[in-house]
Amino acid sequence: MSNAHVGSRIVGWGSNLPEKVLTNNDLADGGLDTSDEWIYERTGIRQRHVGGSTGEMSIHAGQQALDVAGVTGADIDLVIVATSTPDQLMPGTSATVHAELGIGGGACDMQAVCSGFSYALVAANGLIATGLERVLVIGADSLSPYVDWDDRSSAILFGDGAGAAVLERHTERTLLSFDLGADGTSRHIGYTDHDGKITMDGKEVFRTAVRAVTKSAQNAIDSAGLTIDDIDWFVPHQANVRIIEAIAQRIGLPMEKAIVTIQNTANNSAATIPIALDTAVRDARVQRGDTLLLGGFGFGMTWASAVMKWDPRD
Ligand code: COA
Repeated sequence: MSNAHVGSRIVGWGSNLPEKVLTNNDLADGGLDTSDEWIYERTGIRQRHVGGSTGEMSIHAGQQALDVAGVTGADIDLVIVATSTPDQLMPGTSATVHAELGIGGGACDMQAVCSGFSYALVAANGLIATGLERVLVIGADSLSPYVDWDDRSSAILFGDGAGAAVLERHTERTLLSFDLGADGTSRHIGYTDHDGKITMDGKEVFRTAVRAVTKSAQNAIDSAGLTIDDIDWFVPHQANVRIIEAIAQRIGLPMEKAIVTIQNTANNSAATIPIALDTAVRDARVQRGDTLLLGGFGFGMTWASAVMKWDPRD
């Protein structure tokens, strides 16, 4: 088999959330003009975890993924930390992870906001096809320092967290297809300036996200040569459960097949997809042989979908 045809598969997974929990009632009791009912009905969120640094959470999630894979940092050829909230402007947070986990190979950050984990997974798969053996992919964000806690239209949505996956060379491809996209002309609808807070046009983000992910998910399913009926689990970015419902309805997927974790975590950006995946693997919803559709979007606007066979080691 030539290198160009070498595939990869996920052999380790993990996640981490900071201990401190802020419920919707905590926000309302703290003086924000909102209520648990409003937030839950409009977003599906009940609480968010806050207070972790991107580096710390990445290390914990990454270590869990290494343990599940039965490897050490020395066995990893590259660590990619997908984040838009690095601990420092430079170096990348991947440098901290590299040092603390004793990574044997290289380290870099990737910035595609909430689509970052899926972009990094696709990149890691490509790097394995060109020679690497094992890549640790982490999606981690600490959004709480960038939240304007007095702005009820955005404060309710965000939290902190990290999720990770070890991708390893395999004789078969498990990443069946992917669709990566962006529309940089929409970058003004959600952004954070240096030393600024998260600023967005929520309604426009909502509309753009539904449109983009619906098309992207359909593209990925088509290029895998599958139909929606072949998808066992949809592992979506967790920004608003109504966005997930709107996408599911448009692609013809019953909501029972969507992994929803947003009630506990809110939107922790690049971390949501690997946390949802870790959750659904640990609670045994996702089983060997299942076909997964990963799909998300982020400020930029960026979007990414991937169709994967779940085929961990025995
Ligand atoms: N609590 C109570 N009322 C609120 C509120 C809150 N937290 N936030 C807004 N409102 C009010 C508004 O002021 C408005 O009142 P009005 O009708 O008197 O003017 C009313 O509720 C409806 O607001 P609207 O903005 O239309 O609500 P919405 O259903 O669009 O929900 C978001 C707002 C932000 C939850 C929703 O647009 C969203 O989730 N967008 C996507 C954002 C996103 O995912 N960003 C990250 C991308 S990765």
